[in-house]
Amino acid sequence: MTRARAWLLASGPLILAACHGGQHPLDPASPQSRAIANLFWVMLAIAAAVYVVVLALFGYASLHGRRTRPDPERPTVIPTHSDRTLARWVGGGVAITVLILVAVLIAELGVSRVLSANPARMMTIDVIGRQWWWEITYADADPSKVAKTANEIHVPVGVPVQLRLASRDVIHSLWIPNLRGKKDLVPGYVTNTWFVADTPGVYRGQCAEFCGHQHAKMALYVVAEPRDAFDRWLEAQRQPALPPQDSLAKVGRQVFMSGACSNCHAIGGEPAYGTVGPDLTHLASRRSIAAGVLPNTRGHRAGWIVDPQSIKPGARMPSNQLGANQLQALLAYLETLK
Ligand code: CUA
Repeated sequence: MTRARAWLLASGPLILAACHGGQHPLDPASPQSRAIANLFWVMLAIAAAVYVVVLALFGYASLHGRRTRPDPERPTVIPTHSDRTLARWVGGGVAITVLILVAVLIAELGVSRVLSANPARMMTIDVIGRQWWWEITYADADPSKVAKTANEIHVPVGVPVQLRLASRDVIHSLWIPNLRGKKDLVPGYVTNTWFVADTPGVYRGQCAEFCGHQHAKMALYVVAEPRDAFDRWLEAQRQPALPPQDSLAKVGRQVFMSGACSNCHAIGGEPAYGTVGPDLTHLASRRSIAAGVLPNTRGHRAGWIVDPQSIKPGARMPSNQLGANQLQALLAYLETLK
């Protein structure tokens, strides 16, 4: 086996494996994303075919072309009998190019139709881009049923979901590759995008428009789950935080309410109304903190509270000089926010 063949055989599965994952446009989990992925494969196939044909023609011309070197003493005479052959080749090339362009245009129009079809009944979720996190609101006509969260969207499988997008500061762009293409979030302007997740799973989304220092660390998770699991989740998110029972957590609650935390963060049912940072009512139920940057564990929460600037320099969250006892109490309290 030659080296090149061995390399190809070894890397083939890797190349194919790279086509799957929680943040991958070629691993679609919605009809919208599937249409985009199919268009990609069609265009890739056409481009590959053109590439192979051009290489083959080039090879043929190299092997069968005129071998004699031009004689500087005699002017080059192009044989006239090949004019018609040449015209046929050029004409054929133009015709094939036009055919390919028309075929791609038709395929593209088909994808646009899939993307722009607006179902009459959709569930609406508000997403606000902030430097550098995502504010998520499940609006409801009844204010007691409004749920607020951050950096994590839950959607029921099979239900069309409309995302109403806005921005508080600069232009962001929401891209959840497995579910839908990009859509900008523009300050002072509301944009919309929609999708139907048809495969349960956890998908990662990412800000796709440079929006400042921590643009790369502005991610979110989309959890697509069966309707009943989603309903249970939403009902839990609508509830205010339960008062802590444990004595350490009670101290932690005091640290939160009397310190800097409550100036920037809100907790439902508690005297904490800050809107600078994410709503923390059900913080412990989320997968990540700091907008998809850290897993939501006790240790990561501690590191983030004490020194967020070393993890995400430039973020609005300041460092917090807490004593060890205060920090442990605060961590115990945050763990109760399920
Ligand atoms: Cu927000 Cu990039």
